Amino acid sequence: MTKKLYIETVGCQMNVLDSELVVASLRKRGYELTRDSGDADTILFNTCSVREHAEEKIYSALGRLKNAKQKNPNKIIGVIGCMAQNHQRTVFERAPYVDLVVGPGQLHQVPDLIDKIAAGGGQQLEVSLGRKDGTRTEIERSHESFDPLRDPSMRPTPFQAYVRIQIGCDKFCTYCIVPSVRGPEQSRHPEDILAEARQLASEGCKEITLLGQTVNSYRYRDGDRTTRMSDLLYALHEIEGIERLKFVTNYPKDMTDDLLAAVRDLPKACKYLHVPAQTGSNRMLQRMKRGYTIEEYREMHQRIREWLPEAAVTSDFIVGFSGETDEDFELSCDLVRECRFKNSFIFKYSVRPGTKGADLYADDVPEETKRVRNNELLALQNEICEADNQRFLGRQVEVLIEGRSKAAERRDEQGDAVQLVGRTMCDRIVVFDGNLRQVGQTLPISIYDANAHTLFGAVVTQHVGPELFSLTT
Ligand code: 5AD
Ligand code: SF4
Repeated sequence: MTKKLYIETVGCQMNVLDSELVVASLRKRGYELTRDSGDADTILFNTCSVREHAEEKIYSALGRLKNAKQKNPNKIIGVIGCMAQNHQRTVFERAPYVDLVVGPGQLHQVPDLIDKIAAGGGQQLEVSLGRKDGTRTEIERSHESFDPLRDPSMRPTPFQAYVRIQIGCDKFCTYCIVPSVRGPEQSRHPEDILAEARQLASEGCKEITLLGQTVNSYRYRDGDRTTRMSDLLYALHEIEGIERLKFVTNYPKDMTDDLLAAVRDLPKACKYLHVPAQTGSNRMLQRMKRGYTIEEYREMHQRIREWLPEAAVTSDFIVGFSGETDEDFELSCDLVRECRFKNSFIFKYSVRPGTKGADLYADDVPEETKRVRNNELLALQNEICEADNQRFLGRQVEVLIEGRSKAAERRDEQGDAVQLVGRTMCDRIVVFDGNLRQVGQTLPISIYDANAHTLFGAVVTQHVGPELFSLTT
């Protein structure tokens, strides 16, 4: 009998990819997906630990399942991903009816562990070694990635896929939990990456987003041969069927000229670079241990502008990090004004136990100040987004059509003629009226309106002669 799996995913694209792989491995064991947790035999939460709020929301969701588990003790409830690695047994302590806790480096074990629980084996916990719990090699080995299993139904769309090129992180920014939960930085073998991309292309995938915490630090050494991120892009560019290549997230210090040249010279490489600055203040950068000064960030940004004048550059900012004064915050505003990012993700600092930041610095910026700064920086960024999007009025852009727009989903528009949404090569969102048959195609769209986060346009219709017209209708 088929069993039903309900899976909820929060956090970054890495987690979206991990969920795809877990679902693929469970399908092999006869599971099918359900959208209704009440109906599910197994409920999994793929979790994030970057901010406390994300973890607390999972405990609330687990709390809501307590009764369901009492009524049906055979229901299997699992917490997987970063929070599983971060909290380990604490998950069982706070929610004793949870059956399964599996860290991101052990996800390949999920199907066997579920079988064990179903066979009466009790609670199961599988996590990787901590960053001080063994030699580098032992710790690396304890973080396994099992990428080749794919499941098209779990992708953002059938023609867009993530491919992991690197796991873990060695940068140890003082605020960040990622190096602890995702382990040491390890780059995947280029041949494995290429094989996976070819497989995806053969399944009809047109856009590949390469994933790594510091994706541009990618480096694979094989004897005296080193493959860099730029080399990977050239190799991936050869794959027939792939139309677009993106990569996230970039680390400012590793934005080398060879990579910028590859993005410039390869038509399939999206002119879109997410390079988080985190703050505009040197004092904060030092406390965050980001490894660069604001002058170095500016120089890097300037280089991007020189090599790729049309590129969309986006950033992340943390407001209210320990010791951040009004002056420090103003420096972040200055950087946003100066770089005119296409977009910035802005986060209020959330102290993460187990990080250097939590040990060394007090979380001393009041919540209210964090909130005010967050809103202020967001308002400034939005102004820039809106002004810059106006530049697209009257222009034509190439859009890879992803599906029905959010508004069309909300209105539950029926029929083939619906409002659609897609993205430009620069990752700009475009909404226009079209036909469901166009989903998955790349079409020219003429832009007639814009707000801060969306361009509005119309499909450019090609003019054809009468003889051709009769053939095409
Ligand atoms: N508090 C707030 N934001 C954080 N980020 C990482 N750790 C924290 C934290 N402790 C943000 C950074 C990073 C993004 C993914 O999340 O801006 O780039
Ligand atoms: Fe976290 Fe810094 Fe690594 Fe990014 S580079 S994952 S912010 S430690």
